[in-house]
Amino acid sequence: MFTLTQTTIEERLRTSLLGRPLVCLKSVESTQTIVREAARRGEAEGLAVVAGQQTAGKGRAGRSWWSPPSGGLYLSLLLRPNLPGDLTSWTVMTLTLGAAEAIEQLYGLPVAIKWPNDLLIQGRKLAGVLAEGAFIGSRLDYVVAGIGLNVATDFSSQPELADTAISLEAALGAAVDPASLLVALLEHSERHYLAMQAGVSPLAAWQARLDTLGRPVTVHLADGRLVHGVAGAVLPDGALRIDLDDGGSQEVRAHDVTLRHQS
Ligand code: BTN
Repeated sequence: MFTLTQTTIEERLRTSLLGRPLVCLKSVESTQTIVREAARRGEAEGLAVVAGQQTAGKGRAGRSWWSPPSGGLYLSLLLRPNLPGDLTSWTVMTLTLGAAEAIEQLYGLPVAIKWPNDLLIQGRKLAGVLAEGAFIGSRLDYVVAGIGLNVATDFSSQPELADTAISLEAALGAAVDPASLLVALLEHSERHYLAMQAGVSPLAAWQARLDTLGRPVTVHLADGRLVHGVAGAVLPDGALRIDLDDGGSQEVRAHDVTLRHQS
């Protein structure tokens, strides 16, 4: 169990945008909701909200995110990227890359990405990233980008996660300082985010870590159908082309599917 405080983080943080300001809360329903409310009030981009616990943590594709008060990092950021709406996913990539690089820099553990934005260590899920975009017509107004990262999470009470998830401390075999992790995550993410705002696509760096292409996958579509195939290619907006076992292909996008690697 750990507690992050605003002063500990702010004393060490060297960002100009992300985490400006930073708010640390003890227990919330979801940090996504708090940041979305701030966005609706017109708050500028950069706001970061961190919570020690979430009672209604949100995952991708309508799932929940188990957020016990025992060692996860739960963070949401308010971003107002200068992007066409169909490239919203680039914003999430900058956060995913920032988290992966922070972990490699601090702990030397290799981190892969499972499409669309899961962080894997030793083939198990260390973190998940969620983006919720708001549009004015077709223009992207803001993105609430959230990450849930298993720092010291104990999965023994969660049989469905125990086999597929991993915590950073378990992978490392040592204790982790969550403040250093959060600071590095914000700093690396900011570098990618500012580069994106200057016109550099994060796609190549994100794809270089992607552990999904060429693998047999099963995709659960939003309408309940399952499709089986091989992850064939990534499109410029981060969508995945599945080459179906029964011929043809299908493009899938992050918000409406879940995907399982089969091997
Ligand atoms: C996923 O399904 O893989 C994405 C999980 C994202 C969880 C994080 S925890 C902080 C933020 N607040 C939420 O309610 N969800 C995101």
